[in-house]
Amino acid sequence: MARRNIRVAFGPVVANDDVSFAVEPGEIHALLGENGAGKTTLMRALAGLLQPQAGSIEIGGQPVVIDGPLEARRLGIGMVHQHFMLVPTLTVAENIALGLREVRTWFPRLDQLADEIDALGARYGLAVNARALAGELSVASQQRVEIVKALYRGAKILVLDEPTAVLTPQEAAALFPVLRSLAAAGTAIVFISHKLNEVMAVTDRITVLRRGKVAGSLRTAETEPREIARLMVGGEVTLPQLEGMPTPGRPLLEVDRLGLTDARGVRRLEAVSLSVGAGEIVAVAGVDGNGQQELAEAIVGLQRPDTGRVLIDGVEMTNRPVAEGIAAGLAHIPEDRHRTAIFERMSVTDNAVAEEAGRPRFARWGMRRRGETQAFAAQLVADYDVRLGSVEQAIGSLSGGNQQKVVLGRALSRDPRLLVAVQPTRGLDIGATAFLQSQLLQRRAAGAAVLLISTELDEVLALADRIVVLFKGRVTGVVARADFSVEQLGLLMAGRTA
Ligand SMILES: Nc1ncnc2c1ncn2[C@@H]1O[C@H](COP(=O)(O)OP(=O)(O)OP(=O)(O)O)[C@@H](O)[C@H]1O
Ligand SMILES: [Mg+2]
Repeated sequence: MARRNIRVAFGPVVANDDVSFAVEPGEIHALLGENGAGKTTLMRALAGLLQPQAGSIEIGGQPVVIDGPLEARRLGIGMVHQHFMLVPTLTVAENIALGLREVRTWFPRLDQLADEIDALGARYGLAVNARALAGELSVASQQRVEIVKALYRGAKILVLDEPTAVLTPQEAAALFPVLRSLAAAGTAIVFISHKLNEVMAVTDRITVLRRGKVAGSLRTAETEPREIARLMVGGEVTLPQLEGMPTPGRPLLEVDRLGLTDARGVRRLEAVSLSVGAGEIVAVAGVDGNGQQELAEAIVGLQRPDTGRVLIDGVEMTNRPVAEGIAAGLAHIPEDRHRTAIFERMSVTDNAVAEEAGRPRFARWGMRRRGETQAFAAQLVADYDVRLGSVEQAIGSLSGGNQQKVVLGRALSRDPRLLVAVQPTRGLDIGATAFLQSQLLQRRAAGAAVLLISTELDEVLALADRIVVLFKGRVTGVVARADFSVEQLGLLMAGRTA
């Protein structure tokens, strides 16, 4: 598959500018670049989701016109989007059957289809249960279903847009042999990621985009992360390191024997206690799904714990409305930004002030203070290097990483005393990751308390003063910086108690 001189522009924003890119059968090809560089846009053009204004696409040496998703499927192009598109109330087989009639002349019965899907999954090491309800699957298995769906529809070119962003390191490691066996069977794979260690581990070639243009193309075996990073950002990037031991001040967050049962009656948290002092970063580590999200949401007032207490700067805040937490100096960077953090159709400006729209700074006598609001949004965009056309653009039209920068900027610009940050660097490019991490360290130095919830062990080891490990909703250990060891943390994360 080759694409030549592709141009895609959205009004004044040129997302792809004279881009040429080729992926061969049997190859895993990384498509890299900063947030907003144009990766998703290029692949959406290939999947028939938008039409380039200039350039051509060839498949197997033949020029093709991909005028819609159906045509893309006919041509053997399958794309797994970062936000999955399965219908939760249907089974896996039913999801795969949707739209199949349009691509195939014959159509198997659902039972036969389910057997075929299970067999196809087994062939490539993609464990899926074709008869399970899509809505009940973990994120990792939903992703396997999306891949099987593409393969079942005959994909010979498989595009994965940040497939590992939502996976734990263990799940990501399990995906790689699958990709290799697909490539060995002749599939051409485009792999988008911000994690250079993954790119080094699993890809054969690399194309780097920078601000819509091709900045370089490399053989993975002949390069190293530093060179790739330089191509992506056009300069050096160094990740910040925590320096100096803290002298934690008074506790700004105290969590005391918190217990929580979810709507289905499953116990999610059991007697979780921790505290974060002023000038301290405490990380919560653990394999995803061990109560981290419930803990964060219980602290900020989005879920109701049934036992225990939450205190912010000594004041009891258990089960108080979110707005009271905000007033007390709490800021929250939620994990699932799409579901809980942004209003996709609203402008960047409206999203930037969403949590504080009623404040005197932004509104007077119920009327929006336009000048103030826009100035605030413009400052946020400048501080956090949000790449966009205009602050009045709908936030949903920003690239994934740039949407996230708005959410981060919104939380941090409030100068919180207590910050609860859940997977804050997910989806960010390396420059933005370095920036966010240095922001967390600056807040620590200025005396704020940071609760960092992250499944990225590297990040936790680099930034935390203490690490609290959660396993099945319980604390299995608390480790101070002087005693950090990857082996011990691994054991705690697997449920051994200290
Ligand atoms: N529908 C749209 N309307 C307006 N602008 C858009 C639209 N889709 C993308 N853009 C712009 O095109 C540029 C490239 O976006 P794209 O999503 O391709 O980036 P990306 O490389 O995938 O970044 P990320 O790593 O953040 O996902 C961005 O400036 C984005 O705001
Ligand atoms: Mg993208």
